[in-house]
Formats: sequence, C-alpha cells, structure tokens
Amino acid sequence: MAERRHVSVIPGDGIGREVIPEAVRVLEALQLGLEFETCDAGAERFLASGQAMPQEMYDQVVAADAILLGAIGDPRIEDPAYSAQVLRRLRNGLDLYANVRPARLLDDRLSPLKDAERRAIDVIVVRENTEGLYSGQGSTFHRGSEREVAIQDHYNSYTGVSRVIEYAFGIARREVAMADKWNAMPHAGGLWQRCFREAAARHPEVRARHLMIDACALHLIHNPSSFDVLVTENCFGDILSDICASLAGGLGVAPSANVNPSTSKGVFEPVHGSAPDIAGQGVANPAAAILTAALLVQHLGFAEAAERVREAVGAAIRACECTRDMGGSLSTSEAGAAIIRRL
Ligand code: IPM
Ligand code: MG
Repeated sequence: MAERRHVSVIPGDGIGREVIPEAVRVLEALQLGLEFETCDAGAERFLASGQAMPQEMYDQVVAADAILLGAIGDPRIEDPAYSAQVLRRLRNGLDLYANVRPARLLDDRLSPLKDAERRAIDVIVVRENTEGLYSGQGSTFHRGSEREVAIQDHYNSYTGVSRVIEYAFGIARREVAMADKWNAMPHAGGLWQRCFREAAARHPEVRARHLMIDACALHLIHNPSSFDVLVTENCFGDILSDICASLAGGLGVAPSANVNPSTSKGVFEPVHGSAPDIAGQGVANPAAAILTAALLVQHLGFAEAAERVREAVGAAIRACECTRDMGGSLSTSEAGAAIIRRL
C-alpha cells in the first residue's frame, strides 16, 4: 500500500475554525488514507506569548506533505507582524511562488453580472507569491512629520518572474494572459514582458495575450469567459483574484493554493479571511474551504477525488443546499453535510 500522506491542519482564527473542520470531514469522507495533524497557531497563542507559531511548531507543520490553513486575522491584533508570522513566513519560508486561484461559476444565480450571456467564468489566476509589492522591502523617512516619505519597493527578479510565468503556461488549457503596468512602471513591466515573451516562445501551442492591469480588470468584468489562465505580479494578483472570486460567486466559493512546483510543498487556504463579524455564529460558508481541500488532494495526486469534490459542491449549491450568503438557509455544518452526501 502506498505511504500515507500527512496533512497539517491550521484552522487559525475566526471562521477558519468553523469551515476547516468541514473541509477535513470532506477529506476524510474521500478515504484517501490521509493523516491529519492539527496545529493551533493563531491569535490566542500570539496574544498569550507574542508568538503565533513557535519555531518547533513551524518545523512540524512544514514537514507535512500539505498544509490546510483556515484564516489568520483577529480584530484584537493590529500588529502586522502577526499575520507575517504565519502567512508570509509559510509563503516565503517554503518559497511558495505560485498562488493559484481558480474561479469557476458553479451556478448562474451566483454571478453579479446582469447580462446572462456574459456570466460564464472559468479562469485560473496565477499570482506571483514571493516578490513584487509584497517583498516587504522599503523604508520610511521622517516618520510622523509632514516630511514623511514612505517607499515600498516593487521587487521583481528574473528567476522569480520567469518561474511563475512558466508555471502558468504549464497549466494553461488554451491561453495565458499576463497583466502588468509597463507604461507607468517600465522597469518591472520590461522584465515581466521579457520573461513572458521567452515563455511564450517555449509554448507555441498556448496563446499568449498581454494586457495592462487596468484594462485587464475591465475585460474581466465585460468578457470573463475570454480568460483561461491569468498570470501577474503579487499585489495585482491579490486584486484581480478578488475580482475573479466575485465573478464566480464571491469569497464564499473562492479557493486558493500556494505552491512550489519544484519542491511540491503547498499551503492551501481559502481566499477569504477570518471574517470576525460573522465568526462563532455557525453561518460561515464552508464551500471555499472545501474547494480548497479539492486543490489539496489534486496536488497530492488524487485528481479524480478532487473532481468529485468540485462536482459535489456545485450540485449542493445548485440545489440551494448551502449557507445564507448563497441563497440557502443551512448552517456551516449542515452545508458541509449536504456536500458530503453528494460525494
Ligand atoms: C489574500 C489576502 C492576503 C494577501 C492578506 C491578508 C495579506 O488578501 O490572501 O489574498 O494579500 O496576500
Ligand atoms: Mg486578497
């Protein structure tokens, strides 16, 4: 029998603690022989000790074959070091350079677009996940005075850009669109375009389309079905992936994978955050966490199981057996059960 795969589970904060157990129930129902270890990194630990995830815990978590993460964020903590101790540390520590965010409309009624003809969307946003405007580099001068200057570096390396673009081409079904802002940010745009041209030449079977980031946002809303894979810089990708999530039904159904295709390491977390306004009420939508679990099993090589999960989520939503945000009336755990029944 094949070796059992280990999944480290970090429910985290807020609704993460409600939706992740549903995702784990789905994974268990698939009977793939996965083993789970739960890790209580998060706000309570940070408030008590100043450390959201001590080194020993981090070492244990990153040894797993995959990491399932709920959400990190707590209204009691304003210190940006908090989320960095978990999110940025995992993304950068494991060099998870591709943030993969598929957005597929599972039911027509979830689309915010009024024109039915234009609603279909099945796009995979590939967001560069280790550099760009998120490199954390920069400086502040004359802090607190009227002369204050704040510089946030936009860091783009040839290796960093070319590897994420190459990954995008590798998963494309028909096209890769690359969005940048070279007319206003020529240094970064120049490098992105050079890497894009090189990758396009290596993949003549895939169409290559270049767009300005602002035009890309507009086209996504006007003609979402024209997109296949969309690759872009970290901060642009953060924004575009929210637009795509909205077009596909909202954050309640938006999954996300942070992966390093060379090492096979991966952190799987829904796009949504900890949603403190609805946490603890049993109303959070588990669909995004469950679709994220599908990305996790796909990553571990269980493509057929992943498809079963996506089908089950789609069927439950179409039957309106879902939470209130999507027009149903079920609680978090009832919505999870409605999906498990359909597996
Ligand atoms: C996301 C979130 C994070 C990000 C925040 C919480 C730092 O918006 O995963 O999309 O921008 O990466
Ligand atoms: Mg975001």
